[in-house]
Amino acid sequence: MNKVIKPIERLRGEIDLPGDKSISHRVVFIGGVSKGKTTGKNFLNAEDCMRTVSAFRSMGTDIELKGKNIAITGKGLNGLRKPDTELYLGNSGTTMRILPGILAGQDFNVTLTGDESLSKRPMERIIEPLKKMGADINSKNNDGFPPLVIKGSGVRPVKYSTKVASAQVKSSILFAGLYADGVTSVTEPFRSRDHTERMLDFCGAKISRSALTASVEGKHELSGKEIFIPGDISSAAFFIAACCLLEGSDATIRNIGLNATRTGFLNVLKRMGADISIKNKKDAVEPYGDIRIKHARLKPTVVKENEIPLLIDEVPILAVIASSAEGKSVIEGISELRLKETDRVLSMTENLKRMGVDIGSDKKKIFIRGKKHRFKKADLKSFGDHRTAMAMYVAALASDGTSTIDDIDCVNTSFPQFFDILSYLASQ
Ligand code: S3P
Repeated sequence: MNKVIKPIERLRGEIDLPGDKSISHRVVFIGGVSKGKTTGKNFLNAEDCMRTVSAFRSMGTDIELKGKNIAITGKGLNGLRKPDTELYLGNSGTTMRILPGILAGQDFNVTLTGDESLSKRPMERIIEPLKKMGADINSKNNDGFPPLVIKGSGVRPVKYSTKVASAQVKSSILFAGLYADGVTSVTEPFRSRDHTERMLDFCGAKISRSALTASVEGKHELSGKEIFIPGDISSAAFFIAACCLLEGSDATIRNIGLNATRTGFLNVLKRMGADISIKNKKDAVEPYGDIRIKHARLKPTVVKENEIPLLIDEVPILAVIASSAEGKSVIEGISELRLKETDRVLSMTENLKRMGVDIGSDKKKIFIRGKKHRFKKADLKSFGDHRTAMAMYVAALASDGTSTIDDIDCVNTSFPQFFDILSYLASQ
């Protein structure tokens, strides 16, 4: 569906947001292989997380979803059963990369398929380490892309260093490690989000961690727990950005996840001069608190490669913000951006150019020469990618006229409530 976007003046008010996507997935992964009941409060009922829910239901897991509350009754590490059909995972890269770690430890065969975009996303990064663990996992067409065929055959421990900092790869290996007789370790070049480690620890796994390495001792059962899923900071980022861009904005987003492996975006904005304050911080398995954001004039910045994993999903909206900060901003270490739901370097440069932004890229960096102005109205393209769509939607809200964007339904991948929450904040 195409959507018309009219500029707005400012955002105001207080909101809560649906649960974090990464954490919601993990509640199902971990609940599905724990013994007993796992409950998640504030579960994200969006397409991606529902792919994980459906996959586990197809493998015999009892999952009840009532509003924002999810309850999963797990039967332990080996309590899953062979699904009757292939498992279709839609657009969900997180499910396609993490689930094979669990499937490698089962004693049945499964084929995982995805939509057009997911079928073009590289899987060698999980195939290689899982094979090293003895798993029988292959790309069906031998091209390194989905469909993936996993023949449950048991796994052995591994010490593995990943080439890229990826929480999906790390998690896949750690989940497989739960089934291996001994200690499995993953070392990353930079720190990536650590939701899997935190939740495994909470649910009784024998896990240890240092700066860049996570290790798990296999063959220990996990037990179901009660978990609060904080609001998704990657979704909050769109409203935070709109507040930065629109004069007179002042909004508070309550109960947002503040895990330090996810707050890179806030750190970058703060050094750009953003007016952000955090209140009511609570320490839990996943820390959270309230973020208040007021409009402020921002300075350009350089984002370094080691910061990228801490804000990987926020790069599209960061490019929008940098476009209105007067001077030259550079975003380094962008190669992973090209491998997301779409090539986000291409999608963002093409769209922002349409809006009159001086933006370019090379293999490793995005360069933006920002100007303090309203964006030029334009006909924008989502490229079927939820984060490109929402980032450009925000740019269009801060533009000089009516814009359009195509294929907006992709927002449902991670944030179906985006438009309602935006209308609320714009009307206060
Ligand atoms: C995710 C990790 C990130 C992120 C994705 C969710 C996760 O991917 O981009 O949206 O839940 O583990 P990578 O691990 O590929 O960086």
